[in-house]
Amino acid sequence: MTVIDIINKTKRGIQLTGEEIDFLVKGYTDGDIPDYQMSAWLMAVCINGLTEEETVALTLAMRDSGDVLDLSAINGITVDKHSTGGVGDKTSLIVGPAAAACGVAVPKMSGRGLGHTGGTIDKLESVSGYRTELDFAKFSEIVNKTGFSIIAQSGCLCPADKKMYSLRSVTGTVDSIPLICASIMSKKLALNADCIVLDVKCGSGAFMKTRDDAEKLGRLMEKVGRAAGKKCRAVVTDMDKPLGYAVGNELEVREAVELLQGRTRGELYDTCMELTANMLELAGKGSIEECRRAAEKAVGSGKALGILKETIRLHGGDSSVCDDVERLPKAKYSHVIYAPRDVEIAAVNAEEIGMAALLLGAGRQTRDDEIDYAAGIMLEFKVGDKISMDAPLMTLYSNVVSDFSEAALRAYNALSLRTLTGSALT
Ligand code: URA
Repeated sequence: MTVIDIINKTKRGIQLTGEEIDFLVKGYTDGDIPDYQMSAWLMAVCINGLTEEETVALTLAMRDSGDVLDLSAINGITVDKHSTGGVGDKTSLIVGPAAAACGVAVPKMSGRGLGHTGGTIDKLESVSGYRTELDFAKFSEIVNKTGFSIIAQSGCLCPADKKMYSLRSVTGTVDSIPLICASIMSKKLALNADCIVLDVKCGSGAFMKTRDDAEKLGRLMEKVGRAAGKKCRAVVTDMDKPLGYAVGNELEVREAVELLQGRTRGELYDTCMELTANMLELAGKGSIEECRRAAEKAVGSGKALGILKETIRLHGGDSSVCDDVERLPKAKYSHVIYAPRDVEIAAVNAEEIGMAALLLGAGRQTRDDEIDYAAGIMLEFKVGDKISMDAPLMTLYSNVVSDFSEAALRAYNALSLRTLTGSALT
């Protein structure tokens, strides 16, 4: 068996055997197969795809490239939730505590921001003192105490994905459904929870731009999860516009806490309740309607907020932010963008808002960039809102950028505004 034969087979659309896929993944992880040969194979996959059988084999080979966790020290049924990535997606901070409040264990490992999309670990690190690098014993202990913990993805899990993902991000081979599926599912299967809910984001701010592709990815991930013996459910949710109002790490923690305090509702709340209900139903906690009611009660009663607060405390973080969001770090500089005339918000390009936030310091432009946790954008509207001339559209925040012109232009251009005339503004 040679790597050149494997590349040629995929290039010609001939199905690989499990042994060939194992050979490729192991050889690349061990450093025996160079980046240029792996890049050629990844590009062949982008162009020709993989069969379901090949995708399952690739996912399992990637999972087995590192440790597979044994969660038996965690009490009760374990449920994991994963988002394929989006802008303003702070759902993990809400659904984790909400599901835990309803009696399931939520041990989560999350990633950092990637390109225009945010990462849960960066958001949590915006809470002063919160430690995301804990050993497995401490992680299990926290889950057993509160029902919920989030730590950073361990380097011992899926080294194959780590190497392949960095290579994909610089070789134009990210946007392939089987490669995304294998990348996400190998990490989920290595974490090894009993049930997995996959939040497949769809729209301008997501990797999957169309509903059709999002559904394809969701179905494929469900099949791979089930083939590995997991209860697995994909839920397609909207990412055509940012989720909620806040984009940026500290701002998103603030919005998540305010939602758990019962101070906000709307699309973010609905998405979180849908995801939590699916986590609970998959874990056998009742019908989807019963689970949704339980999730709403967990938030309405303040129990989910209490769990988030205690989890932050056990991670060494300043849990008083759950009582008073003003304790979160604030940016030195801010800039308000006002409506230039009476307008209706027709659409918002989520990816462009994410890029504007990145320019402000909320994300990394290179792997080694430091995050400005307080940087980001607070939107003042929802799509469909009518805004009068000179009313604020959004506020930009940063500690590192005092000249807002580039980010402000990018953020403003992300909006599609319909001019209103006469009495249209009511
Ligand atoms: N998230 C991942 O972990 N991998 C991908 O390929 C895309 C999104």
